[in-house]
Amino acid sequence: MTGQTAIFPGMVTQRLRLRRFEAKDDKGLHACLGDRELVQYWDFAPCRNIQETRGWVRALAKVAQPEDAIAWAVADIKTDECIGMVNYHHREAYSRKLEIGYILQAEYHGRGLMTEAVQKVMTHCVQQLKTRRIAAIIHPDNAPSIRLATRLGFEFEGGPLRDYWRVGDSFMSPIVYSFIAS
Ligand SMILES: CC(C)(COP(=O)(O)OP(=O)(O)OC[C@H]1O[C@@H](n2cnc3c(N)ncnc32)[C@H](O)[C@@H]1OP(=O)(O)O)[C@@H](O)C(=O)NCCC(=O)NCCS
Repeated sequence: MTGQTAIFPGMVTQRLRLRRFEAKDDKGLHACLGDRELVQYWDFAPCRNIQETRGWVRALAKVAQPEDAIAWAVADIKTDECIGMVNYHHREAYSRKLEIGYILQAEYHGRGLMTEAVQKVMTHCVQQLKTRRIAAIIHPDNAPSIRLATRLGFEFEGGPLRDYWRVGDSFMSPIVYSFIAS
C-alpha cells in the first residue's frame, strides 16, 4: 500500500488533533524547524526560510506508510493550527519495534501538549500496530526530551551511539531510551 492510498490514522486528544500534514501547515512547522535553538539537538540543520520548510511539509505529507513511518501534524483541536509534529519511523513490523520523534513550537512548551500527543501515538502503536518496543534516540543534553520520554515510561538503555547523527560537517552522539509495552 503506498502513502497515497493508505488510510491515514488521524487521531484526537483532549486538546489536539493529530492529522496528515497539509500545505497550510508551512508557518506552523517553520516555527519549529526554523527555530535554531529548537532543532539544536536534531539530526538536521534548521530551515533557513519558509520555502525550505514547505519542502518538509510536502515530504511529511507523504510520510504515511504504516508499515514503515507516519508523520502527524500536531494541531490545536480548536483552530486546527499546526503547532508541532510527532512521528514514528524505522518500523520493523516483524520485530514489533519502531522509533519516535517529536517537536513542538517553543511558545507551546510547558503545558503537557507534546506528552499528550506522544502518549496518543504510543497507544496507537501498541494497540493498533502491536508494537512492543518504542525507541527514542535523544541527544544527552536534550533535557526536556529526556523528561518527556521518562514521563511516558521510557527508560535509559544505552549509548552514546558514537557519531550516529551527521549534521552538516559535524557529528552527534545520542543516547537511547526505550519503552517496552507489557
Ligand atoms: C521535547 C519537547 C517537545 C518537550 O517540550 P515540553 O513542552 O517540555 O513537553 P510537553 O509539551 O509534554 O510539556 C511538558 C512540560 O509541561 C509541564 N506540564 C504542564 N501541564 C502539564 C500537563 N497537563 N501534563 C503534562 N505536563 C504538563 C510538565 O511538567 C513539563 O515540564 P517539565 O519538563 O519542566 O517538568 C520540546 O522541548 C521540543 O520541541 N524540543 C525540540 C525538538 C526535540 O528536541 N525533540 C526531541 C527529539 S529526540
